[in-house]
Amino acid sequence: MSQRKPYIGGNWKMNLHHAEAAALAAALADRVRGDDVEVAICPAFPYLAAVSSVLCEKGSSIKVGAQDLHALPNGAFTGEVSLSMLQDVGCKTVIVGHSERRHIIGEPDTLINAKVLAALDAGMQVILCIGETIEQREAGKTDAINWGQMGYGLAGVTAEQMSNVVIAYEPVWAIGTGKTATPDDAQQAHAAVRAFLRFGLFNDAVADAVRIQYGGSMKPANAAELLAQPDIDGGLIGGASLKADDFIAIIDAAR
Ligand code: 13P
Repeated sequence: MSQRKPYIGGNWKMNLHHAEAAALAAALADRVRGDDVEVAICPAFPYLAAVSSVLCEKGSSIKVGAQDLHALPNGAFTGEVSLSMLQDVGCKTVIVGHSERRHIIGEPDTLINAKVLAALDAGMQVILCIGETIEQREAGKTDAINWGQMGYGLAGVTAEQMSNVVIAYEPVWAIGTGKTATPDDAQQAHAAVRAFLRFGLFNDAVADAVRIQYGGSMKPANAAELLAQPDIDGGLIGGASLKADDFIAIIDAAR
């Protein structure tokens, strides 16, 4: 039986403006209590500070996360945001390698790896996203794609640093589509991800400790069944994290 603490993350993506973001953070802070589930919410950059202060004022244990970062500390990088800026506004975690950045913006594995290393060096928690497209799944390449993205993304990361790494398995075809991997399919992919941590990249201790979140149309109606799988340790939630009731129902399902 796993001793891993469940971890539910809300990836708000490019949604919600100031008042809505602050109101959702306040509602979550009021209603999410206890520390049996780790919870993070990831607003868009302009609202990180506002969300942080709402959570802080309410003494909430919900963590604030960013959806991306730049790997270098400062300089002439128009439009980018550095780690120290994120830390300055209270971020404790950062999503790296989301499929929308890999596939829409074209982020390569080398850049993702640089971001992972920089964030871990700065003491931030990293949520590294991996996952296959529908074509890759239909070609039987799900595990190969996940292993490749992990191998590149985690290159140079030490076993010790892995205590600050969470893997989010997000099959691209399930994101925002309403199509969810079946609990069996998701469990199979998660088990293969954990096996690669155990036999490929690290060791038993790392494989047994790392949380692997499922992401892709997770909602109150399917969360309990997914979260009941032995290798699914939480969720990274998009659409359903934008409504307090839905996000809280998913957190409750993780308990
Ligand atoms: P949805 O829950 O909207 O499918 O998004 C999942 C996701 O991409 C979380 O990072």
